[in-house]
Formats: sequence, structure tokens, C-alpha cells
Amino acid sequence: PTNSAWGGRFSEATDAFVQRFTASVEFDQRMYAQDIQGSVAHATMLAKVGVLTEQERDDIIQGLTEIKADIEAGNFEWSIELEDVHMNIEAALTKKIGITGKKLHTGRSRNDQVATDIRLYMRDEIDHLSSEITRLQSGLIELAEKEADTIMPGFTHLQTAQPVTFGHHLLAWNEMLERDYARLQDCRKRTNIMPLGAAALAGTTYPIDREMTAELLGFDAPTENSLDSVSDRDFAIEFTAAASTIMMHLSRFSEELVLWASAQFNFIDLPDRFCTGSSIMPQKKNPDVPELVRGKAGRIFGHLISLLTLMKSQPLAYNKDNQEDKEPLFDTIDNVSGSLRSFADMMPHVKSNKEVMREAALRGFSTATDLADYLVRKGVAFRDSHEIVGSAVGYGVKTGKDLGEMSLEELQQFGEMITEDVFDVLTLEGSVSARDHLGGTAPKQVLAAAKRAKERLANR
Ligand code: ARG
Repeated sequence: PTNSAWGGRFSEATDAFVQRFTASVEFDQRMYAQDIQGSVAHATMLAKVGVLTEQERDDIIQGLTEIKADIEAGNFEWSIELEDVHMNIEAALTKKIGITGKKLHTGRSRNDQVATDIRLYMRDEIDHLSSEITRLQSGLIELAEKEADTIMPGFTHLQTAQPVTFGHHLLAWNEMLERDYARLQDCRKRTNIMPLGAAALAGTTYPIDREMTAELLGFDAPTENSLDSVSDRDFAIEFTAAASTIMMHLSRFSEELVLWASAQFNFIDLPDRFCTGSSIMPQKKNPDVPELVRGKAGRIFGHLISLLTLMKSQPLAYNKDNQEDKEPLFDTIDNVSGSLRSFADMMPHVKSNKEVMREAALRGFSTATDLADYLVRKGVAFRDSHEIVGSAVGYGVKTGKDLGEMSLEELQQFGEMITEDVFDVLTLEGSVSARDHLGGTAPKQVLAAAKRAKERLANR
């Protein structure tokens, strides 16, 4: 035969370039453990229903176990001629145990095999990414507790808006990650369904027990429809969408870290070991990690579009197009994992420059809303108080004084109802601690929110 897997029908060997062009073993070999896990379960089930003898099952499992050890010891030769991870392992099995190896593929196709392998692989990776999110979150929450009363300017339009606490800002990031975690868990539910048994597309004539294989492999259930089973890659798209949202969030954190670490903001110091220098400018300390993570967001969004476009218009059932799902998926996993890891390692060691943050909050009239609210408490309608405070700010811009730096007489030019107690609300501490409700920036609320956030992590 011209090819060991399908040579019977062919009258010439595959073109050498086509062989390399259509092969996937270079990138799908990373699923070797899942491929073997799937085969062991399949053989176990085949023996249970009487398609294989117990001896054949044991020989297959023994052979596969040795192959796994060979691969892990670096003693396995992957061959392009055998196209993919599935046929490489099957050929090695036959070489090891002879004719019984050729029986493993009974009642199975690479179409249901590959779909099963990817789902097994992704299930593990979803679990790994989820635990990295949890690690990053616990670092953020701990830092938030330490920074519960560190005051910084809060921004809208990147213009100073109102004072907030740094701890509150960090817990905002934590909320984004909380949703990211939930999205991964949701995607895991639809990933953890077993296509094995669909065979090429229509099912198989053997009396297979799909419930049994599903249980052996830790799947929640077998899939319902054989055609859908071999062609569905929704779980990969959902995963990449969840991954894109994670990267979108990390790119936002990155942007803030890069800004804050600049000489112009100088709000934070990043640990040296997460930064690099310049080969020409001796003074430089560049925030490479957040910059790179911000950049990586782009390629992950690209992978999402790749997968959507890959699946668009594909007729049922399996098409070779689907081999193109792996590289975007694996690249997504590797880069999201690396990004989460570097953030989880770095964030607990970020140092805040409290005095600089405080100075920045003092500049920019960040307590103007507090003054407006104060006037409302004195009986002024909010729209009028907005106008009054606007004039006071205009005066401050002209004279170079912040609201808290004006004398009582100066403030009274804008409203005679202003009295000495105004200075309580014009201080930064007064401003943040007045926002004392669920979800507010008051230090007390930050500590309570951190406590709840920790409880959520503990209940995962
Ligand atoms: N390497 C293939 C993939 O990644 C495995 C399935 C191939 N099936 C086939 N009938 N050509 O999708």
C-alpha cells in the first residue's frame, strides 16, 4: 500500500509537499496525553461490550502506557508521514504490540477522536487558567486591604474627577476578573461533553457504550448528535471569546500601570525584576511586562476572529478546515496563561507612592462634587450648587488655589451659606469616607468588600 492508514484505495503515494502541508503533528502532538487517555477509555469500553477481548484490551493499555512514558522521556520519534498525533501513536502501538494495535481504531474515527482530545485538553487548560485568575485575584485583594485608605485621584476622561482609594481601584480590577472566572466556568460546562462514539459522522455499527466512555473520561455526558459532535467547535470559540475578554481586562490594567509608572504620574513603582532597561539610555526602567501583555491582547482577539471565520459556512460534518482550530487555540492558551502568570507574580509587589497620589488628588479640584453636595445639604438646589461651585473652581484656576486652600471669606464670595464646617468636606479623607455605602470608595467599605471578595475565592 502507498500509505499505511488509507493506502488501499490509492494508486500513488502522497506528494511530499502535500504531506508536509497537510500534516498537523508538529502542533497537535501536545495533545498526546489526552489522545492516549481517550484511547485507553475507548479500548476499555470495547472490551466491556465484547468487541475486544480482555487480553487485547490489556495489551493495548500496556502499549499506550509505554508510549506515553517514551514521549515524556523524549524517546518518541514523531513522523510527518503519519500526519497527526493520532496516527503517530496508533502506528507506534502497532509496532509495539502487533496486530492488536490495529484493532484500537474499531468503532472510532479520527474525527470523533480529535474532537474528544481537544475537549479533554481544553478542560485541563481552563482549570489551569482559572486557578491563575484566582491567584491574581487573591494578590489584588491583599494589596487592596493594605491600600484601603491610600487616596488617589479617580478619573473620568482621564481628567481628575473625585478622590478614590487605591484599594477601591484594585478591587474594581478584581470584579473584572471575577466575571472572567465565571465565563471560563460557564464555557467549561459546554466543553466537558464527549463526542467520542460519533465515529466519522454517522455513528458506528458496533454496540458501543458511550455513557461508559464518558464516565471513564470524566465527561459530564456524551453528545446528542453524531453529525454535530464531529463538527462542533463552539467551545473553542467560546473559550477564545472568554480569553479575549480576559486579555481586554489585562490590557486595561496594563495601560494604567504603564501610565502610573511614568515619571509624569509617578503613582507606583514596579519591581525591577519585571522591568527592563535601555541599551542606550542609562536612566530607563521600562514597564515591559504590562506593555507586552497589552500588546498580546491584539493577537488573542485575532484568534477569536480566526476561529469564527474558520467555522463560518462550513457544511456538516467534519471538514479538514477544522485542523486549523488548533494553532489559534493553543496560542491563545499559552499567551493568556503567560499574561496571567506574570500579573499574578508581579501585582503583590507593586508599591504605591502614597504622597504623590495624594498630591495629585489635591490638585484638580477633586472635591468639587463634595462642595456641591454640601451646598445641597444647606438647602441649595443641586443645579444651582453646581453653578456656584463652578464659579469657585473658575476662581481657583485663576488664582492657582485648590478649593481646600481658599479662605472661608474667599469661598463665601460664591455663597453666603458656606460656613467653617465646609473644610470637613473639602479634605480628601472627608470626601472618600463620606462615600460610605455598599460599592463605595470609603476605606471602611473597601475593607468590607475585600472580605467578601476573599470569601468568594474561598468558596470556589
Ligand atoms: N488532524 C486532524 C485534525 O486536526 C484529525 C482529523 C482528521 N480527519 C480526517 N478525516 N482527515 O482535525
